[in-house]
Amino acid sequence: MKKNIFTILSILSAFTLFAGGYKTTGVVDVSTNDTSMIFSYTKNKTPHFEYYGKKISNPKDFIGLRTLTPSEMGEENPLYSARGGKNYIEPALSVIHFDGDLNTELRFVDVKKSTSDNGNIETTTISLKDTKYNFLVDLIYTAHKKENVITQRAEITNNEDGDITLQNFASSYVSLRAKKYFLTHINGQWAYEANVSEDELTRGTKSIVSRKLVRTTLSENPAFMLALNTPRNERLGEVIAGALVWNGNYKIDFDYDDFMQLNIISGIAPTNYKLKKGEKFITPEMVLTYSANGSGQASRNLHDWARNYGIYKGNQQRPIILNCWEGTGFDVNESIMYEIIDDAAELGAEIYVMDDGWFGSEKFPRDNAKAGLGDWQINKRKFPNGIAPIADYTVKKGMRFGIWIEPEMANPNSEIAQKHPDWIVGAKGREKPTIRYQWLLDLSNPEVQDFVFGVFDSVLKMSKNITYIKWDANRHLEQIGSNFMPADEQERFYIKYVEGLNNVYKRIRAKYPDILVQACASGGGRIDYASLKYCEEVWGSDNTNPFCRLFIQYGESLFYPMKAIGAHVPKSGSRGIETSMKFRTDVAMMGRFGIEMRPKNLPPDEYKELKRAVGIYKRIRNIVQDGDMYRLISPFEDKNFAANMFVSKDKSKAVAFIFQHTFASVYYRPFIKLEGLDPNKKYKVVESNISGKSNAPIHNRIVSGEYLMNQGINNRFNKSFMSVMYEITEVK
Ligand code: GLA
Repeated sequence: MKKNIFTILSILSAFTLFAGGYKTTGVVDVSTNDTSMIFSYTKNKTPHFEYYGKKISNPKDFIGLRTLTPSEMGEENPLYSARGGKNYIEPALSVIHFDGDLNTELRFVDVKKSTSDNGNIETTTISLKDTKYNFLVDLIYTAHKKENVITQRAEITNNEDGDITLQNFASSYVSLRAKKYFLTHINGQWAYEANVSEDELTRGTKSIVSRKLVRTTLSENPAFMLALNTPRNERLGEVIAGALVWNGNYKIDFDYDDFMQLNIISGIAPTNYKLKKGEKFITPEMVLTYSANGSGQASRNLHDWARNYGIYKGNQQRPIILNCWEGTGFDVNESIMYEIIDDAAELGAEIYVMDDGWFGSEKFPRDNAKAGLGDWQINKRKFPNGIAPIADYTVKKGMRFGIWIEPEMANPNSEIAQKHPDWIVGAKGREKPTIRYQWLLDLSNPEVQDFVFGVFDSVLKMSKNITYIKWDANRHLEQIGSNFMPADEQERFYIKYVEGLNNVYKRIRAKYPDILVQACASGGGRIDYASLKYCEEVWGSDNTNPFCRLFIQYGESLFYPMKAIGAHVPKSGSRGIETSMKFRTDVAMMGRFGIEMRPKNLPPDEYKELKRAVGIYKRIRNIVQDGDMYRLISPFEDKNFAANMFVSKDKSKAVAFIFQHTFASVYYRPFIKLEGLDPNKKYKVVESNISGKSNAPIHNRIVSGEYLMNQGINNRFNKSFMSVMYEITEVK
């Protein structure tokens, strides 16, 4: 990696052309291949956010041309809105300085640039300083050129004469101008993740926020799409998308201000955070992208960035997993495990994962959710010979072995909770609430960090053949309180917990770089780019019903690439709807495919179909996992159909999945237009994942990309829960 560092003091200050206080005298640009983010400052060095959008190659054009509002009218489009002085709009930064002064007035000091990763990454650091105190803010923008992604973070340094309190300390501030703004974000609940909400923003502030600290993304996800001027469209229009790299409390504000600008302020949820004299606070990164071609392109930009930079081993192929949870519940034992391992191998799975229920002390065995959590010893009754022979057997059968842990938590009915009451989160003198009969351990405490690391470490020591960990977290924070943090620093806990968790992840990655880790939190409670920095994948949802999964996976795909989303085939009837194996496997193949059941319970024909789907997924997985995703029909918008496709980067292969989830008249069989192909290439279209003869008119035909993208594919659906899957291959 070539590093080339250079400094430009007061970049372009030579272009100081105007004497007036409100005109732009200097500019700084941060650009990718197709986008630009441009900042400016005036003669008195007040910095402004000028522009984010399509590439403007000559940033000097900005010099002197902006007419800002006269000074009596407050502070328009600041670079990083700080409370105080002339600024009254929603703050990215609010500080109580060491002597109680509530104002901060940031001025431009200098800008530094550096490049790395063969020029694909350009980092721009803009240094700002308060007019009165030695209080410094560095804004760091990292442009990922070919992905068209810019990340932003702030580094805040207290060089004042005493401790200060940060109240708002956002990662990123973006100021936009458009006629209208349409916000899309995903939210839900347990088993109902990633429901898509879309609203037009009106004057005032709309926030998306989580204060749950753990499993934050069950209810809201720290990510958004903002369509400018017209409602979000997959193919058309300007869209800005963002995702925060933080696995704790967050808040993203959309502030439609007095100047008719829309300011997006993203970061850790505001709290009183004492920053001691001499300390520096580094915010998490906010990932941003701009698309001039609708939200489909915005997602593809984020997916590319995620694979190349955002996700742990993001470019590696993801294996097929069979997890026993929906098949066994807590009823795991030696003989059942051998039975499922045999089936997993027969079906072609690549990793077998034993879920909850394998541990607990004699006094507190983990036979249900009420006891044993926190006591990470093998349950001798269920596993008299330990876990190692089972892991070894799995490897002998040609697979890897994985195991479930939930190391941040403890049941009150556990040895660990009774031995270490001081490790339990909660306030002294109050009854501590449980969720799923469990408490949260205080990861701000380094001893607890050692314990959590130790759980991971000791579980792996049970056998060298354990190479996959499902890391669960089944409650969130209620009743804040840490026995470790001093009384006057309790609010720091919100951040120190997350830092503690991430410290553990870092230690784990240093020691175990090749163990595959799944972040699960009651399903999709940790779908965020901070968890994915350390974990290869997340569990998409505890809801494996394929109809619901069409919606959940659609929502998740807005921001996260499907290779990172565990999507498992359940037995029929999961959460109340009977569906064919064909329909279930077609849905699961759009993610990181897996199986969630005890296969012995399948009817023999379904067993065969499942085995066939595993084989097909092995053939197409590179296209699904590393190709470009096109969402053809949203289940949120269409009453009857849903469709997605994936296209290899060289456009030589594609795979399309089309679903009729709700019966539409047999007289209504719309042509579904494909996307992302090369119009000039010829493709052979083969219906796949079927038993017997294809019923699809286009099956086995060779047609042009032009035909497939303009005329489309017509399908013979005649009932609810039908699907087709096509493998599309270039013919030379
Ligand atoms: C959570 C997870 C499930 C399963 C159970 C085990 O609910 O989301 O997948 O692991 O815990 O208790």
